[in-house]
Amino acid sequence: MQAIQYPEPLPQHVAIIMDGNGRWAEQRRRPRLFGHKAGADSVREAVETAREVGIRHLTLYAFSTENWQRPGLEVKGLMNLLKNYLRSELDTMRKNGIRLECFGQKDRLPDDVRKMLNRVIIETKDFSKLHLNLCLSYGSRAEMIRAVQEIGRQCEAGELKPEDIDDQLFSNHLYSTGQPDPDLLIRTSGEQRLSNFLLWQLSYAELYFTDIKWPDFRKDQFIAALEEYAGRQRRFGKTGAQTEGVSTA
Ligand code: FPP
Repeated sequence: MQAIQYPEPLPQHVAIIMDGNGRWAEQRRRPRLFGHKAGADSVREAVETAREVGIRHLTLYAFSTENWQRPGLEVKGLMNLLKNYLRSELDTMRKNGIRLECFGQKDRLPDDVRKMLNRVIIETKDFSKLHLNLCLSYGSRAEMIRAVQEIGRQCEAGELKPEDIDDQLFSNHLYSTGQPDPDLLIRTSGEQRLSNFLLWQLSYAELYFTDIKWPDFRKDQFIAALEEYAGRQRRFGKTGAQTEGVSTA
């Protein structure tokens, strides 16, 4: 059997803003929750695709700090979907070596969701094939303020001097500590914004926007994003010649 060729280089870490569930449902004259349910199937397919192609870190924006302001029924429906997803995927995660982590304010989640989440986090903590980060009640500004507060407390306690603070130390106080920054950000549904998502970690990420709504973003669309990424030249502030190792001195 011939091995399937995936685009190279592959990003190590992909972050996704999964947008457009509501509009996808409205186009079909169905309730918004119908779109979120289809979106949960796209989540399963994205995780499976990431694992299959060899992406090591996948971060999904599932629920923002602002999403608490949505109608109560929609929030409840999303929380239920999340709990069902965690319950139904635990075996697959074990089988496939997937480690789950949560970025965000876990203490704001309903008790049953938090318990299920903690259970999956603990049961998958030794796996390393794919690191799956679910962002729940997540906001990047809140994440950074939390980091600044922790660092401030350490300075106040004399454990740290302000001049010790650098990029690495700050990164160590974010939810993503120990993981590489995303190489590729994907946002579906035609919107071209960051929406308070990983503002520090996305500093050098390649951005990929597609009009496809999240419930329709399946394996083929994910591979198309990876193909586009493979063709990008990442310069990290250097010249193109420097990046390609061509001497222009
Ligand atoms: C954005 O679409 C999507 C969300 C706010 C929720 C994301 C949730 C899922 C993909 C499903 C459940 C998640 C898991 C992890 C099982 P939107 O509602 O803002 O769409 P709209 O912009 O078209 O209204």
